[in-house]
Parts: sequence; C-alpha cells; structure tokens
Amino acid sequence: MKTDRIDFNDEDSNTSANPSFDSVLQARLGRRSLLRGSVGAVGTAMLGGLGLSACGGGDAEAAPAATLLGFTAVAKNLTDVVTVPVGYTASVLYALGDPLTAGTAAYKNDGTDADFDKRAGDHHDGMEWFGMDADGKASRNAVDRGLLAVNHEATTDEKLSSFFLHANGGATSLPRPAAEVDKETAIHGVSVVEVKRTGDKWATVQGSGFNFRLTALSDIEIAGPARGNALMVTKYSATGTKTRGTLNNCGTGKTPWGSFMTGEENWVGYFFRAATDDAARADKSVTSLKRYGRAQGAATRHGWETAGADDKYARWNISKLGASSTGNDDYRNEMNGMGFMVEIDPYNKARAAKKRTALGRYAHESGAFGLPVAGKPIAVYMGDDARNEYIYKYVSTANWDPLDANSTDVMATGDKYLDSGKMYVAKFNADGSGQWFELSMSNPTVAGYAGYAFADQADVCVNTRLAADAVGATKMDRPEWCSVNPANGEIYYALTNNSNRRVDPTGSSQLAPDSANPRAYTDLKGTTEQKGNPNGHLIRIKEAAAGSAATSFTWDLYALGAQSDADGSKVNLSNLTADQDFSSPDGLVFSPATGIMWIQTDDGAYTDVTNCMMLAALPGRVGDGAKKTLSYTKADGSTLAVDTYVGKAPTPATLKRFLVGPKDCEITGLCETPDGRAVFINIQHPGETTALANIADPAKYTSQWPGNVGYGAGKRPRSATIVITKNDGGKIGT
Ligand code: FEO
Ligand code: CA
Ligand code: CA
Repeated sequence: MKTDRIDFNDEDSNTSANPSFDSVLQARLGRRSLLRGSVGAVGTAMLGGLGLSACGGGDAEAAPAATLLGFTAVAKNLTDVVTVPVGYTASVLYALGDPLTAGTAAYKNDGTDADFDKRAGDHHDGMEWFGMDADGKASRNAVDRGLLAVNHEATTDEKLSSFFLHANGGATSLPRPAAEVDKETAIHGVSVVEVKRTGDKWATVQGSGFNFRLTALSDIEIAGPARGNALMVTKYSATGTKTRGTLNNCGTGKTPWGSFMTGEENWVGYFFRAATDDAARADKSVTSLKRYGRAQGAATRHGWETAGADDKYARWNISKLGASSTGNDDYRNEMNGMGFMVEIDPYNKARAAKKRTALGRYAHESGAFGLPVAGKPIAVYMGDDARNEYIYKYVSTANWDPLDANSTDVMATGDKYLDSGKMYVAKFNADGSGQWFELSMSNPTVAGYAGYAFADQADVCVNTRLAADAVGATKMDRPEWCSVNPANGEIYYALTNNSNRRVDPTGSSQLAPDSANPRAYTDLKGTTEQKGNPNGHLIRIKEAAAGSAATSFTWDLYALGAQSDADGSKVNLSNLTADQDFSSPDGLVFSPATGIMWIQTDDGAYTDVTNCMMLAALPGRVGDGAKKTLSYTKADGSTLAVDTYVGKAPTPATLKRFLVGPKDCEITGLCETPDGRAVFINIQHPGETTALANIADPAKYTSQWPGNVGYGAGKRPRSATIVITKNDGGKIGT
C-alpha cells in the first residue's frame, strides 16, 4: 500500500498482458520508491452533513430489521485505538504470537519468541466462524463456543526482514539466517483456534485439541484438474499430487457444507528466479512466469531461498537447475503449486488441506458462495487482486443436494463440488449488461489462443490469467473481496483502487476509464497528487434467470469511495457524507444474522485524515439508482464520455461508519456468531510504517497497539483478532 515499504496487499503481479510499470520493477528498492511516489495523500477539510436526503431506509429486501444501524456513527480519527460506537465494546482476543498449544510460553513480544508453528501467525486477515456444541461437535447454532479459522497473510517487513519478530530487527542482507527464516515461514498460513464465551467475556482456549496451524511449509494435497499434471511435478512430488505450504492467505470462504476456504494472494514475490532462467527453460513456462509477475532475475521479498541447502529453503528457488525433462529434480514448477483456493476441514487437523485447482490460479481474495439452490450447480465468486486484473466465477458440475449441508466428511463433499466444474471470467458492457466467458479447452478462443498454447484443462486452471486474456475480459480496478447478499443473491465486489486509470493513458499498463471502472481523477493527500481511482468503488452483479449457471448478468456500482467534500459530478458520485466517506474498500462481508454488509478499508489515500475503518451498509439492489455520464476532457481537447450506473445514494439510515482502527493498520476479516451478538474482526499490521531502524525505540513505533490498551507484553505492535459486543447484549449494528 501506501508506504515506502513493500506491501503484500498492493503487490502487483500482473506483469505481462498489459505490463504495468510498477510491477515490472520487481527490484525491491525500485518498487519502494515508486510506491512512495504514487501513493501520495489526501486533502483536508470535511464538510459535515452534506446533502443528507432522508429518503427512508434501506431496501426492504436487504434490511430485515427496522432497528438496523441504530448506532451513532464513529467519527474519522487518527488515534491509536479501536473506536466503536457508544454502547459497544471491542476487546482484543487473539494476537500475533499468542500460544495455541499447552506447552507454549506466553508471547514476550521482544523478538526472542520462537515456535511460531504453535502460535498465532502474523497479519491476521480473512476469518470464518465454525460453531461447536458442548461435546465438541460441529454445530450451526452454537453461539458461545466455536473455532475461528484465521488467515495470516504476511508480515511487516523492511529490507528482507520481518523485523518485529527478531530481537534486533533481523538480518537485512543475503543470505538470511536460517533461524530467522524458520520464524518467518511459520508465521504465514492459517491458524484454527478455539474460542469460548464465559459470561460476557470471550477468550481463546490455549491447549484445545482443535487448535492447529498451517504454515508456508505444511503438506497440502493438489486436487482437481491439475492434480498429477506435468505442470505440478517437483522434486518434492514427482507425481505432482502434493506441495508444501499456503501463502499470503487473504480472503476466505465458508462452504455450504461447512468447511473453510482460504485464498492465496501475493505469493509471487516469495520465489526466486535466476537471471538466466528464460534461456535455461526456453519453453512456454517463461510466458506463464512473466504473466504471473516473476521475470527472470526477480529478487525475493525475504530471501528465504538463501537460508541453507535444506530442501525447505531450496524450494523457494524456482530456476530450472536440474537436467530432467519433467522437473522432478528441481523446483522449476514449484510456483504452479501456489495461487489457489485451499479447502480445509477446520474441525479436524488430521485431514489434509486441498488446493482446489478447478477454481483457477491467480491472486485470490475471498471465495463467496452463491446462495445454494437444490438441484442447481454451486457458484463460487472470486477476484484477482492486481491492477487491471479480472473477476471470476466457478460453477460446479454437481448440483446442490441440501443433505450435503450436514456433511460428516467435508473434504469428500468438497471433492464432489469443487474438483469438477467450469471457470468463467466477467466482461462488463457499457449498457449495464455483462457476460461470463467460459475458460476451458472447449472454448475455441481459449484453445486457439495465440498468446499461449494451452495443453489441457489443467493448463487452463494453472494459467487462468492467460485464458482470461484470451477471451477479452474486463480489466478491473483491483478486485478485492466479494460477498453475496443473503437477501437476494446479488454479488458485491470491492474494487479497492487503481493508480493506473487515466483519461489519457500512456504505456500498456494505464487504461482509460470505462463503464465499470469509470473514474480517473486527482485526489490530494496534503500536497501530493494521487491519480487514477485512488478511493476505489464497489460493483455488484445480478445473475440472469439461470442463477448460478447464468452466462449473462446485469450490474451497477453500489457506491464509490470518496472524501465527502470531493466533486460530486466526477468523484463523490454516491454523495457520501462525513459519516459515510471512505477510501479503498477491501474486506466485504454480509452478515447472515442481520443482513448488514460490512465494508472494511485498507487505505493509504485518506490516511492523512483517518485511520482505516469499517462501515455498516444496508444496500438495495442492482438497478435501484440511475445512469450517470462522466465527462472528461482529453489532452487533445476532445471529450471522453463514460456512461456508468450508480446505485441509489446511501442515506444516514443505510450507510454509517461503525469503527475506526488504530494507526497504520487495515481492517479486515469478519465473522460472527449465528445470533449476530458477537462480531470478530481483524486488525492487520498496526504500525506497519515503523522504520526498522527504530526497532529499539518504542517511542518511534507508529503504533503500539494492542500493548497500549493493556493486551499482552511489550510495545511492539501486533496484528490481532478483536471481538465486538454490544453492552446490552444485542445484535451488532442494531
Ligand atoms: Fe490481501 Fe488484496 O488483499
Ligand atoms: Ca484527499
Ligand atoms: Ca485485502
């Protein structure tokens, strides 16, 4: 993001079909200075109470209770605490390093802790709730005991090192010490932790037999079309049926049969390629590697490949080193094992997790399941988060059997629905319609693509971006999370921002505004100009009559991020007020308990005014607003008119800021107890712009949360899960 440091959330792995300038600069110093230059800043004064049109509450379909959003909006602020509305309490529950197993010591938080495979990982991200009854059995209705499955996306780092994890900030040059790399590989991945309510207090259960970790080195099965394919053969798995680790776990999904899905996002930067690897390979894998952002000579973010001869370090070097024709003597194919949606049985740590390759390989965010309909296929909606990448869906071959909602073997049920199906990519048309294009060998546009010769469906699943290029899908403003409105099945996507939209685009990475990504403007942060679509927007989709299997849809924009005093004709198109304005929507989760859509931000554009935040929304439906035409003047004096479709403007009753986080964090991850009376969210990377050079001086940390609110030892900032409750015991958001 927005700092002078590499940010996993903003890493741009789209480098080939339309190479973007910043992504081509894989060298980390080059990237840093570019980011510093491109993520400037936002302006200043807020105008309160702008244009509140008291047009009534939310759409009846999406607003099941009249008392929703009964809280007083939280004001934007820059304090180093979590701010929630009056009448609510936010408590820290589960922070980086907290012990999971019985014998693991409390976290000292001074850089001397180890055993991270037995502790909470770093950078808590997407998260799902899995209820349990008193006997420790899965229970849909349990409200006071359950498991949290938590993504640990990445780590706060500078100059290779995850510096808050190491006593003196760690080594800043290659080779990296093995002991540091072992910590860093262990803090990535996923954790499952039991949580329990006693009275009105929630706590984790250290030593619970349900607790477990998956790390960047855990054994994981390859499932679906790519299982056993030549593209998956490595020294570790000559049969191409397994790999190690899950990385940069960002968004999540919860299957209708009760398992956990985790999306692998910015995994590209972990893999090293030698400077002469193109010539060593001399085959189409070079095209694939470039399209996914791994040019030869690319440096890695952490240098894990340099920590020693052990295979667990060597596997991060994906250069062709061996003499085999298959790749069973090196790790030339290792990166093909990363970039999937991974299914996990949260209740059973003994079950192998599975990479569901049928859903495609890219920078995955969440996997949102369409509302299941008996006798119809299951749909999973997903996005690829890089500038100018695409929106996807997967449609199962198997039709939904409601009995599977009570599956006693969720991984077998996953095999049924997630290993055979069709992938589609979205094209958004200027008239408000859209198409899903099938990505398969039976689509002649894919099978005959001149840019890459697909061998089979496994190849399409591994090189999904290339297949989507082939069919001419719409390049979006960084698709982040998506979520499905439980009231009507419409699908919402956060498009977080895009610094590459321009009225007069230059080079292959910049794009002109289009109907689905209609804004290109300049926003000020202080005196720094932020160009493109710095504040992001949310798009929503209504499937045609065929529902999950539809190949066409209609769409509009639910809302566009902006500061409330921005130009209403070009920027603040949703008339956001000071109680509603936001920038860079990222996490997006509908609450089944209340129907509230929670919008979370991971922003750098408005952070001169406010820390990142969470808003509660009661959206209406696709088509409830109006067509708007944005008129731009091009450099040659001609006019560029862009038609777009903006949903009914939010009112104070339908959109309101609920929470502001501590300094230098993003707000992410959301799940709830089924009664809606406890909401769990994640505070990721507080203090992330702290300089490594200041590691010994806590006064110079940009955040000291959560130590500053009394949680745990030490002053180093920690990512953490918090639980939000209402003081009167009511539902959150009411
Ligand atoms: Fe991990 Fe694109 O957010
Ligand atoms: Ca601004
Ligand atoms: Ca995110």
